[in-house]
Amino acid sequence: MQKVIITGGTGYIGSHTVVEFQNAGFEVVVIDNLSNSVIEVLTGIESITGIRPIFYQIDVSETKDLETVFKDHKDAVAVIHFAAYKAVGESVKEPLKYYQNNIQGLVNVLSNMIKYDIPNLVFSSSCTVYGQPEKLPVTEDTPVVKAESPYGNTKKINEEIIVDTINSSENLNAISLRYFNPIGAHISANIGELPLGVPNNLLPYITQTAIGLRKELSVFGDDYNTPDGTAIRDYINVCDLAKAHVVAVKRLLNNALRYEVFNIGTGKGSSVMEIINAFESSTGQKLNYKIVDRRAGDIEQVWADTSKANKILCWKAEISLDETVKSAWEWEKKVQKS
Ligand code: UFG
Repeated sequence: MQKVIITGGTGYIGSHTVVEFQNAGFEVVVIDNLSNSVIEVLTGIESITGIRPIFYQIDVSETKDLETVFKDHKDAVAVIHFAAYKAVGESVKEPLKYYQNNIQGLVNVLSNMIKYDIPNLVFSSSCTVYGQPEKLPVTEDTPVVKAESPYGNTKKINEEIIVDTINSSENLNAISLRYFNPIGAHISANIGELPLGVPNNLLPYITQTAIGLRKELSVFGDDYNTPDGTAIRDYINVCDLAKAHVVAVKRLLNNALRYEVFNIGTGKGSSVMEIINAFESSTGQKLNYKIVDRRAGDIEQVWADTSKANKILCWKAEISLDETVKSAWEWEKKVQKS
């Protein structure tokens, strides 16, 4: 059985990715410091796949601790690196926390991969590296621009660190996946997103409003240059996104180019109002919302050209928006019950 190491494997995208690797027949080793997740996620994973992944509660920025895991699992064929802070607003207030954790974490992961000769990395990047692109949809050739936040900058810098490291080493290969907006939960409702405190992102805010935890959703701006005036994003089901990591590892194992970048989205943009309508119609829940001013730092619209991933990875997002928002609702109901 081939083994992979997944950092941040109890987090939102990480946990769904653990499930997909186990479903694909890989043995999974999870590293997570549980700073933004809980240990019970492992039980959720086990209830879906029947397998509890090997788990280390370790911070990837702690150099010595991390090395013990790589030493023990040097037979791994790949590392999937998620572990990082991800709150855009917080990164503006505490930039050094983001640079320290997100940059040091990757440097430690790469150092160990070289030392223990683990040749393949899949890196969790973001469409934030494109900023507000001039041409839509966004292809991978769209220029990477100055980041709008320290968080975004850590993604940009991390991609550069990976390229420099690959150029200086003989055996290292990597794929960066630039995610658009992941939403939804596993169909079993045994794992999903668990935001700490007040959610920043649209979908968890919607489900928490519908369940009564929040009074109403604020729609940030209806005066954008879009058909209904609200901002547009490419919302991708988290399980579809997770599967992209499995095909990326398979490509790396089959002698891909040394470094490649892929957009991972659906190829379709949806406005905030379209998401609200999809939520109301697929769940039958009425949502309280009001229109407020634009949120600082938000871009107007972005969605992916996914033809490169469709062609080269033979991967395509499959789960519909309606199913996806419904899965987020089923998960929210379960979280509030437990
Ligand atoms: N929105 C609302 N109300 C809310 C929350 C969000 O109207 O309460 C709107 C936003 O203004 C935006 C859309 O919903 O138009 C999506 O917002 P999210 O916060 O869910 O997602 P973002 O596109 O702002 O951010 C996401 C990731 C970031 C990543 C970025 C890249 O969360 O990590 O995409 O573009 F950097």
